[in-house]
Amino acid sequence: MDNWINVALPKGRLGEKVYDMFERAGFDCPATHDNSRKLIFENADKGIRYFWVKPSDVAIYVERGAADIGVAGKDILLEYQPEIYELLDLKIGICRMAVAAKSSFRDDRSKTLRVATKFANIARKYYSAQCRDIDIIHLNGSIELAPILGLSDVIVDIVETGTTLRENDLVPFETITPISARLIANQVSYKFKGVTIAAIVAGLKGQVKAP
Ligand code: PRP
Repeated sequence: MDNWINVALPKGRLGEKVYDMFERAGFDCPATHDNSRKLIFENADKGIRYFWVKPSDVAIYVERGAADIGVAGKDILLEYQPEIYELLDLKIGICRMAVAAKSSFRDDRSKTLRVATKFANIARKYYSAQCRDIDIIHLNGSIELAPILGLSDVIVDIVETGTTLRENDLVPFETITPISARLIANQVSYKFKGVTIAAIVAGLKGQVKAP
């Protein structure tokens, strides 16, 4: 294990915000903002290396040690339960996991509830706590279509502004859990690179703003 700190950033708008927090915390690597197709950026003086990865893959890179730390949504952590340490709530990427359906929907508890979602484990856990029989319909995107086309009764999905639901005539019925971006660490890296990781956590804490 070298002394570099390898950071998996979620590619996209959230990742840009995350990188800005790292930069302001003193862990800059200006080329990271380049609008190129390059995926890895290093600052040898600071010993820090950033990779852009698909947001839902950050936890895998960190769990397996390809990255020492990273930033992942709480949704992904709840869904995949990776063996990582969750170090800090960055209080960005704030949204919620919710149940939504057509406004005409009325739950008939004598019937199995058809739930369309990308988050099968979160949905299963939520409904099993209510002893509710469900049938999971696993989709990879555009989940909002499912109740409209009669593929499911409800959806379990992320709601941020609520625009996608509104524009598709769906309403949120229940909030399952609030979601935000979390700084996570590989368990071995946390032990062997603990001093540097602690310095990063301290620097980022200074950047966390109350939502
Ligand atoms: C997420 C989610 C909703 C949308 C909610 O989709 O699945 O569709 O954002 O945001 P809103 O409440 O602000 O409208 P995402 O953009 O991640 O794409 P996806 O279709 O791949 O899930």
